[in-house]
Amino acid sequence: MNDLGFAIRPDGAAPMYRQIFEQIAARIRCGAFPAGFRLPPTRALAESLGTHRNTVVRAYSELEAAGFLSSTVGRGTFVNDLPPDAQVEEARERSLPFEALLSRAARTEPMRRYLRLRRASIPPGAIDLTRMMPPPELMPAELFQRCLTHVLKTSGAKALGYGPKEGARPLREEIVRDLARRGVPSSAADLLVTTGSQQALDLIARALLDPGDVVITNVSTYAGALLVFAATGAHVVGVASDADGPDLDALRRLGARRPKVLYLMPNHANPTGACVSNARRAAILAWARDAQVAVIEDDYAVDLELDDGPLPTPMRALDPDVIHVGSFSKRLIPALRVGYVVAPPSLHPHLLALKHTTDLGSSTLQQLALAEFLDRGYLVAHLRRIQPAYRARRDALLEALRQHLPDDVRWQRPPRGISVWVELPEGYDPGAIFEEALQRKVMVSPGHYFAVDEGARGGLRLNFGWEPEARLREGARRLGEAVRAARGRDPSGPTVELV
Ligand SMILES: Cc1ncc(COP(=O)(O)O)c(C=O)c1O
Repeated sequence: MNDLGFAIRPDGAAPMYRQIFEQIAARIRCGAFPAGFRLPPTRALAESLGTHRNTVVRAYSELEAAGFLSSTVGRGTFVNDLPPDAQVEEARERSLPFEALLSRAARTEPMRRYLRLRRASIPPGAIDLTRMMPPPELMPAELFQRCLTHVLKTSGAKALGYGPKEGARPLREEIVRDLARRGVPSSAADLLVTTGSQQALDLIARALLDPGDVVITNVSTYAGALLVFAATGAHVVGVASDADGPDLDALRRLGARRPKVLYLMPNHANPTGACVSNARRAAILAWARDAQVAVIEDDYAVDLELDDGPLPTPMRALDPDVIHVGSFSKRLIPALRVGYVVAPPSLHPHLLALKHTTDLGSSTLQQLALAEFLDRGYLVAHLRRIQPAYRARRDALLEALRQHLPDDVRWQRPPRGISVWVELPEGYDPGAIFEEALQRKVMVSPGHYFAVDEGARGGLRLNFGWEPEARLREGARRLGEAVRAARGRDPSGPTVELV
């Protein structure tokens, strides 16, 4: 702290000049430095902050550029008459009424909910059980760098231009081989490389759905898919499940509503971790064929096998009309933004045309580097490293949950993936638990975020991929406290929503 009350941290997250900028701007905005206020000379402020004068000069000059300050040689630096916020306010008043101009897609309830929900800021040092991505120590940065360098050296400008909209040929061939390893039949002609599997879902939804069409999903499902379906104006309906997967009688009843699409994550549903049994897969596909319903098989957690044993049969291996979606985000590197869709021949061209309208193709450079990565066998080697690591993390978390959560709270041991779903019986409010956990610096995902409608049962999704074992154990201990504290809480108390 100096005379003006500035708290500047030389080792802070932002550079020094930026911290000085923010603190002065904040004081001007709240009126603590009113119009005409004279700021200390740069040399004096630098001395009082123990920093170099040039740092303060840079902060002042950026404040000037942003309209906060004016300086006159020989007189000093002064706060401007018209605070920038007022300018912003004025500009806002003159702005077009975009709310009134929004499309129907942008105004659907899940979109509004998405905007209403606020991302609770993660307290420093908090144990984060919400991250659905590999932690830095389990991402093969060095191996990927080698492949990137190799591609730049050997392909040069070819890697830097636009590529085929369906995806770079070497990558499509590698993905076909990779899918075969898992028993998913495909050919390079069936395959479309997408910008993450999120884009694959978006393209499929736009290709198949009109406003009012019915899409069936699990009652708790991937929130990103709910947004995609909502954007088309489709109506999402949840189907109840038992231990084998979606309930067939419930599906038959929903058939009366003439659904167009069934969206499933049969190997490891997000958020519940449920796996659809082989027998149920076949039965669902028979129903879908009969009811003329397109089935989307989202295998986002592909290759995150944590136990030995046979892989479940891919739905696409049982029926070539299944639209199979996969990704390299969870098993490898999310920043690649490489996903893919294997589509039946009569759908493929339509997905391709929509892909063209969206982004003219995914990054050629990333695709070629990934193709090289796969060709060198690095993926399989990488899996041998990460699978035991995630297994150890899962086991540490489950063991600690057994120790610390009340007896009436249940969960299943997930055989794959990086998350576990904690089922909450009546009397437990996921929102209240979220708040209590936040106070204890543990982040969890409450079930209402994934709920298709109000009927979805309460639960919490805990991701164990991000944190190391010791922190997972500590997280479970604090979560146990939070669950007990929330149970004793007035149910009409405030609830927090988060993305
Ligand atoms: C079930 C599911 N599908 C698809 C995605 C999209 O992932 P990406 O676009 O990174 O492949 C996610 C991301 O969390 C997911 O959970």
